[in-house]
Amino acid sequence: VSDTLFPDFYEDQKQRVNEALERWLPAEDEEPELLNESMRYSVLNGGKRLRGVLVLEAARLGEPPGEEPLEALAAAVEMIHAYSLVHDDLPAMDDDDYRRGQPSNHKQYDEAIAILTGDALLTRAFELIGHLPELGLDDQTVTTILRKVSRRCGEEGLIGGQVADLTVDGDSATAEELEAIHDRKTGALMTLSLELGGLAAGVEDTEVESLRRLGETLGRAFQIKDDLLDVTGDLDTLGKDPNSDDASNKLTYPSLLGIDAARETLTQVVERSRECLQSLAGNHDRFGRIVDLVSERRH
Ligand code: IPE
Ligand code: IPE
Ligand code: MG
Ligand code: MG
Ligand code: MG
Repeated sequence: VSDTLFPDFYEDQKQRVNEALERWLPAEDEEPELLNESMRYSVLNGGKRLRGVLVLEAARLGEPPGEEPLEALAAAVEMIHAYSLVHDDLPAMDDDDYRRGQPSNHKQYDEAIAILTGDALLTRAFELIGHLPELGLDDQTVTTILRKVSRRCGEEGLIGGQVADLTVDGDSATAEELEAIHDRKTGALMTLSLELGGLAAGVEDTEVESLRRLGETLGRAFQIKDDLLDVTGDLDTLGKDPNSDDASNKLTYPSLLGIDAARETLTQVVERSRECLQSLAGNHDRFGRIVDLVSERRH
């Protein structure tokens, strides 16, 4: 999907992420062909590549040892993201038939293949991290990265957030509880992407902490916008079925507060994201454009 909202620099970075994914995914003509084809189907099918671009942008705050380890990390976070989407769409989870404008993985293949494709993408991401030392990152940094990835994707992060998303009692939930779910199911991976770029580029601990705060607010803004688009968007523009949240009785900002108050919350969270930019070293114009993209996107 092309979108005039995407600035030129973003298109360039997105291209780098796409090339890295192409390089690091298993080839379609290698065994096991069906699994490899399915992995490529659910990764190389569009996608905004926001998380991969965040890795590359965060690394600009420091002095990375080269392009290769950054591109491998960008590919790894996009594989993790794609795994989370393949599983998120499964009948046992959100039961959605479309993703990125095409049948979701279990519709194109079947449920068993979709489950295993998600597993394989997550596993492949860890394999990439195992290649970082030969791409120029020191062992200490790679160990830190490994711990961060596990922590942000596990029960305290993405997976824990997905469990809460499925089990929360919408009738008694508060805005604070909803925010805590967003922080884990969506914010953790945004935060991780920024942290990995910073760590790979050797930035100071205080700068990693600033990146974490930016990731948190960006994640919140991103998911409120996603929930609004689910109510106001259409299949053609979104590439996924609208009104999916309502159909599965999800707790979202629009369901909890109504559309207007959800929009108001989005405006406030975007403002907080902009404030976070002030504590980053150097020029943050590009991050500012990314914040715009998150809040103004149409898909
Ligand atoms: C969708 O993420 C899942 C959410 C966290 C809301 P994106 O909107 O970034 O999905 P792609 O990668 O562009 O398809
Ligand atoms: C997704 O949230 C969070 C993930 C970790 C995948 P949603 O369930 O709202 O994402 P979409 O709308 O299906 O992309
Ligand atoms: Mg979901
Ligand atoms: Mg979903
Ligand atoms: Mg959604």
